[in-house]
Amino acid sequence: MKAEQIKELDKEYIIGSYGRYDLVCDHGKNATMFDKDGKEYIDFTAGIGVNSLGFADEGWIKAVEEQLHKFQHASNLFYTEPGVELAKKLAERTGMEKVFFCNSGGEANETAFKIAKKYGNTMADHRKNTIISLYDSFHGRTVATITATGQDRFHTECFEPYAQGYDYAAANDLESMKAAVEKNDPCAIIMEIVQGEGGLIGLEKDFVEGVQKICDEKDIILIIDEVQAGIGRTGSFFAYQQYGIHPDIVSFAKGIGAGLPIGGVVCGKKTCDLLVPGEQGCTFGMNPVVCAGANYVMDTMDDEFLAAVCKKAEHLRAELEAIDEVEKTTGLGLMIGVKLKNKKADEVVNELLANGLMTLTAVDKIRLLPPLTISQAELDKGIAIFKKVLG
Ligand SMILES: Cc1ncc(COP(=O)(O)O)c(C=O)c1O
Repeated sequence: MKAEQIKELDKEYIIGSYGRYDLVCDHGKNATMFDKDGKEYIDFTAGIGVNSLGFADEGWIKAVEEQLHKFQHASNLFYTEPGVELAKKLAERTGMEKVFFCNSGGEANETAFKIAKKYGNTMADHRKNTIISLYDSFHGRTVATITATGQDRFHTECFEPYAQGYDYAAANDLESMKAAVEKNDPCAIIMEIVQGEGGLIGLEKDFVEGVQKICDEKDIILIIDEVQAGIGRTGSFFAYQQYGIHPDIVSFAKGIGAGLPIGGVVCGKKTCDLLVPGEQGCTFGMNPVVCAGANYVMDTMDDEFLAAVCKKAEHLRAELEAIDEVEKTTGLGLMIGVKLKNKKADEVVNELLANGLMTLTAVDKIRLLPPLTISQAELDKGIAIFKKVLG
């Protein structure tokens, strides 16, 4: 099909819940995508943080293909190997205990909420079930996770009523958190270490440590949402691991699947044995093909790989900060927000695309989430396009 025909069919047959950029993707390799006419684009988006190993990684394809030849799905009514291997790796990597697998970040957070509510309703010294999240957060698009998302722009009247039992505190403001805890007596607090959709806002170490202390003192389940910041993106396997905290539940998705759908939660001692048969499920959860690919992702992300992520992030940030129009960069590692001095982020993103660079926005910033495997040559091509457009 020609590019124009694909766009027309999309308009005719796809429900219009997305605004799309003017690029019809055809094929890609690592951080380079080609459109239907063979035009090259450097990818600083990784499919919104999903393609951790870039496009068409050979090792990942081999792992997925090998499992496809064995069997593609059996359901959670039977034992399967790739998922248990993956869960063991996640437990070992975090020092936590057990994993539940689903398909997406939203479902992962829903699962975290159910586990936290069960803890609060049945295990705490009194019944409690409210969940506190941060303003400017993003936790998903289901009714509960959109309610937990602390951004008013997502709480439009047309989807009312939202879920009950959610309240908010300001990021990096311990007094605000203490007040929310006082008011709500919550069972859980959920937060992203770097708020992605909310504008690449990194949490301060003092705040994160302070929240951990509150959770310890008041027997509150600490949920860290690593859906966007996790799986090597910030230079550690999970972003929270740079903060010396011990969450009860870590939700993950996106990058661990490297392009196939997966989500899940890793649970610590307090939360890992709460759910019993029938209380949570997911038809595709722990799918062996997806898990085989995810095992390859986890095996690839050793210390050397993570050190390379930090080096690439340093280089990219230094080059961007040297551009006159750039006010500052925010975020952590290869999760980068670019705040401009005068130009509008959404207009610049379209200009970058026209010049062969795929980028994203997050509120008022340009958001960069390149594949973690991006080569020096691809990085430098992308930087050159930035300089041309902003120069
Ligand atoms: C921090 C965070 N949590 C949850 C989600 C929802 O993930 P999904 O779109 O896979 O449901 C996202 C998606 O961008 C996210 O960034």
